[in-house]
Amino acid sequence: MSEEENSTLKIFLEMHRNCRFAPGSDSLTKRALLSANSVAECALPSDVLDIGCGTGNSTAIIADMFPLATVFAGDIEPDFVQRVRDRFAQNPNVCVASMDMAHLDAFFQPETLDLILCEASVDNVGFGSALTAWSQILRAGGVAIVSELCMYGSKSKMPEEAFEYWTEAKEDITTERQLRQVAVCSGYTVISEFRVSPDEWAAYHHCLRGNIEKLKSRALVTGDVARREVEKMEREMDMVERHPECCGYTYFVLQKN
Ligand SMILES: C[S@@+](CC[C@H](N)C(=O)[O-])C[C@H]1O[C@@H](n2cnc3c(N)ncnc32)[C@H](O)[C@@H]1O
Repeated sequence: MSEEENSTLKIFLEMHRNCRFAPGSDSLTKRALLSANSVAECALPSDVLDIGCGTGNSTAIIADMFPLATVFAGDIEPDFVQRVRDRFAQNPNVCVASMDMAHLDAFFQPETLDLILCEASVDNVGFGSALTAWSQILRAGGVAIVSELCMYGSKSKMPEEAFEYWTEAKEDITTERQLRQVAVCSGYTVISEFRVSPDEWAAYHHCLRGNIEKLKSRALVTGDVARREVEKMEREMDMVERHPECCGYTYFVLQKN
């Protein structure tokens, strides 16, 4: 890992200490898992993957909801993988590995997974590319749950500053409607979809702001990378709070056709 990557990871972890890694809530994750399970071919999923698992918050929810399932947890970041390994060392049902979600065929045989959960992690690979790749390893009737940042309305109706900010912050940002169409074109049926609510965003921001204040008051935001990352996060929070109607995370619960 380069020095810059190391500093970026360090400040990310400090800003997110005891916070979620992305907007959402445990109840939203459970809602998505229940929705997925309601259409599953078999009564309960037996092979479930949490990809881009971060430090394993949702892995724990899956393991709790489906105690008989084998739960795979994968992330590209070795530091997170080690934390999740330590966290689930006593749970033989949870298998943790370093994985790149773009190349999951290196880990899983074709059509062997019942459920894939990917929360706020798909953007490096792209929503459509990930869904296409995952359809190879999902069983027929298996379900992918993906939460992705998107625009709630058309670009032309966005306030100019929000449009400029989001199209720069996330180059491939598109509308909720387009993501739904991409899912359908990738061979999935949309079972349900729901948004992270303004209150859930606010709770996430509240936690982050508390950490950022503490870091600043102790003069711990040092170095160009840390300052840049904190400013970036503050700008994003400011934009979400000023224009909550424009963009946000939507959960898509998608059944493979
Ligand atoms: C915003 S965090 C979300 C973590 C977790 N899903 C959650 O909601 O708490 C994004 C995660 O995706 C991981 N990630 C990014 N690109 C990835 C890839 N190509 N394959 C696997 N994991 C990836 C990051 O390391 C990070 O842990």
